[in-house]
Parts: sequence; C-alpha cells; structure tokens
Amino acid sequence: MSRTPDLIKLEPALPWLSEQGSAGFVQALGLDRLLLQPAAGSRDGAHLTAITVRLNEGPTFTLHGACTPTAADWVFVVEAQDQPRLLDMIGQLRKDQHIEICRNKDVEASDRFTGFSRLHFIPEALPRMDESALDLNREFLGRTFSAPLLITGMTGGISKGTEINRRLAQAAARMNIPMGVGSQRIALDNPEYAPIFKVKPHAPGLFLIGNIGMSQLTGADALEICQRAVEMIDADALAIHFNLVQELVQVEGDRRFSGLLHGLERICKHLPVPVIAKEVGCGMAPDTVRRLKQMGFSAVDIGGKGGTSWSHIEGLRSRSALSQDLGAGFRDWGIPTAYSLAVVHKAFPELPLIATGGVRDGITVAKAVALGARLVGIGLPLLRAALESEEAPLALLESLRQGLKVTLMATGAARLDDLSQRLVLGHPFEREFEAIVRA
Ligand SMILES: Cc1cc2nc3c(=O)[nH]c(=O)nc-3n(C[C@H](O)[C@H](O)[C@H](O)COP(=O)(O)O)c2cc1C
Repeated sequence: MSRTPDLIKLEPALPWLSEQGSAGFVQALGLDRLLLQPAAGSRDGAHLTAITVRLNEGPTFTLHGACTPTAADWVFVVEAQDQPRLLDMIGQLRKDQHIEICRNKDVEASDRFTGFSRLHFIPEALPRMDESALDLNREFLGRTFSAPLLITGMTGGISKGTEINRRLAQAAARMNIPMGVGSQRIALDNPEYAPIFKVKPHAPGLFLIGNIGMSQLTGADALEICQRAVEMIDADALAIHFNLVQELVQVEGDRRFSGLLHGLERICKHLPVPVIAKEVGCGMAPDTVRRLKQMGFSAVDIGGKGGTSWSHIEGLRSRSALSQDLGAGFRDWGIPTAYSLAVVHKAFPELPLIATGGVRDGITVAKAVALGARLVGIGLPLLRAALESEEAPLALLESLRQGLKVTLMATGAARLDDLSQRLVLGHPFEREFEAIVRA
C-alpha cells in the first residue's frame, strides 16, 4: 500500500483561481499536488485543468494538472512538466512560513538545555576598576569588533525580508558587530530577490557574511554558486550551513549529498573571502571539525542544541503524521551548545569559533566567551525584535552587551580573556561546600 504523500500545511491558506471561474484556497501542498478548498458555488472540480496561485503579495504560479474532488477537499495533481514550478513555489513560500512559525510558535528545543546552565561564575565583590576601562573589543577574521557578538544568518522571507535585513544590518553597523544574512539560494535562483540581501548601502562599514546551504553545493557548479553569493552582496565572508536533520525532516528537503565533500575543498581554496562552516542547531563534534579544518574552512559556528530547533519547525510545517512525529522526535537532537563549544575549542584552540544556539542573555554570552568562543551568535530573539520595530534589535544587542559588561565587572575580569578563570561547573564552591557538610 502506498503511503499518503507528505504535505505542507498552509496557514494562512493561499488563494487560487481558475480560468473557468472557480476559486478557493490552497490548504496544503506537496511535491506533486495541492489540496484545494473550493469557494461556495464553485463549479465541479473534476473539470479543473489549470489553477493560478498567488503567493502573499508576491508572484503568481499557474499550474496544470488534474483534479479529483473528494468529500473533504479537491486533490489537484500537478502534471510532471509543471512540478519543478511547484517546487519553486514551495521554495519561495517556505521562508515566509519559517518567519511566521518563528514569530508565533514555541520553536526552541523543548528542554532549552544548552549546557550553559551547568556553569556559573565566581563573583568578585571587590571592584578594582572603572566600568569605562573594560575592553570588549574582539578580533575576528581580520576585523576588530566592539563586542564578541554576531547577528547570525537568518532568512527574512520574501514579504518581510528586505525590512528585517535592513533593520538588523543597521543595528549591527551601529554597534560595530558582524552580521550574517540567511540563505541566498532564493536570490541565486530568482535574481529579482537579490535586493532583499543587499544591505550594505544601508549600513556603512558593516562586516557582512553571506550564506548558502550545503544542499546547493553538491554539483559541479558549487564554487560558482558561492562566488555569485559573495558578489551579490559584497560579502566579507561566506557561511556554508550544514542543516542535515532539517533537510531530512523537511517534506521537500534534500536527501542527496554525494559530491558535497569534493566541492567544499575547492570552495575554501578558491573563494576570495574566508569560508565559515555553520551548524544550525545540532552542534559540531571535534572529528567533524577536524575534517572541516582540513578542507580549509577559516572558522566554525558550532551551532549547538538548546535554541531554535529546525527539525521541530519543519515538523510544525508539515501536515503528515510522519514528518510531525519526526520533527517532534528530533526536536532536542544534537550536542548542547556549551558542550560542543568546549570540546571543539579544546581540540582546536587556535580555530576561531562562533557559539550560536540558545544564547539569550549577557551572562550566557560571557560563559560562551569563557569557553573559547570568539563570537557569540544570536538568532531567534533578534528576528523577533526586527519584526517588532526599527529600534528593537539595537536595544536587544545593547542589553546583551550590558549584561556582558556587568558579568566582567562582577567577576573582576578586565578583559574577555580573563573570564575563563572565574567559570566553574555547578555553583561556586559547591564541591567545597559538599565536602565540608559531609565531613
Ligand atoms: C527565522 C530563522 C531563519 C533562519 N535561516 C537561516 C538560514 O537561512 N541559514 C542559516 O545558516 N541559518 C539560519 N537560521 C539559523 C540561525 O542562524 C541559528 O543558527 C539558529 O537560529 C540558532 O540560534 P538561536 O537559538 O539564537 O535562534 C535561521 C534562524 C531563524 C530563527
């Protein structure tokens, strides 16, 4: 028995209409079909051979196929030659769906466990210096930034992407910290979307990190794709994201990766800017990083578990029990951010590391720095801030920086590199306390 094809739910549903005058909403879609809800009074669906769907304030897609009305809805199966267009439509829609889900739902690891909660700083009650003497400056890939913070690469979608990226870029430039954009795939496939990512004119001096997924880099054109991504936005570095579990849970995700490793080495060798390997929420193990280093990656974002969970988000997008169960099952999959950071830094102390994944306050930024992070990446809270207002991203970054400053002062650390001496497992003096009480 063949199983029901995986379908992506559309919330809100998209309007469709046909030349014959029928109309309604698309409730769900898959790689070869759409589930249509006809408007009251629509003509018999069995005669439907072409429909036009309009994306949220975006382009329209006309798809040919055959329709089977059922008691619940009309199943419109798209003919083979239009299926690539349907896939393109899903790709353009996906980013907007991600934004809406991230804005409205609980999308983080269910236990929120990043490992940082197991660590605490030993306070220093006796201050020796002025707050103004603190040095938060951080060098990364040849540039000096005013704090060890990074606005990590996030898709802004088609409808809101331009505004989100501009707001984030202006905040990053104002604070003098680097920023990544989300996957540029959509603009590589459809050049009319390139302006979404071109933020440098709005943010003078910004250090901008381009972004492309590993799935796009399995073919012979991998290097050319990366070159185009860099040129498109005048990027200062390129992040290649490794999002295996997301692809495997995503209904329309990629499943073919042979050819990837060869391409990566060429990219690192020939691209004119540094290349960063970036996980997106499952963490990196030291043996993976060893291979990435051998391939020539200049830095690694260990992208650990505990924050935004992409398997969970893809499960939420899906209408089928299979993907929903997979998404829920893998929601907490991966190496907690702090653990991944610590073991990778121990194995490769010279490699510049970015710690992203569930970092939500200045004390945690300080803990990540103490464990060896050059930069600490923040995603979801900044996306929500950018959706909220023009000023909110900078206000959030300021509060993270202020939290970091207070941590430095309150531990007696004058510089970021001093923080590691004051970090302990468990609560300060826990072991000593236990020994005394047990004796
Ligand atoms: C809405 C949204 C879109 C994202 N899109 C991308 C992307 O296109 N490319 C990428 O490498 N990472 C992407 N990420 C992952 C983030 O860069 C980051 O690794 C992840 O969200 C974990 O950080 P957080 O827990 O602070 O959100 C996205 C994250 C969010 C929230």
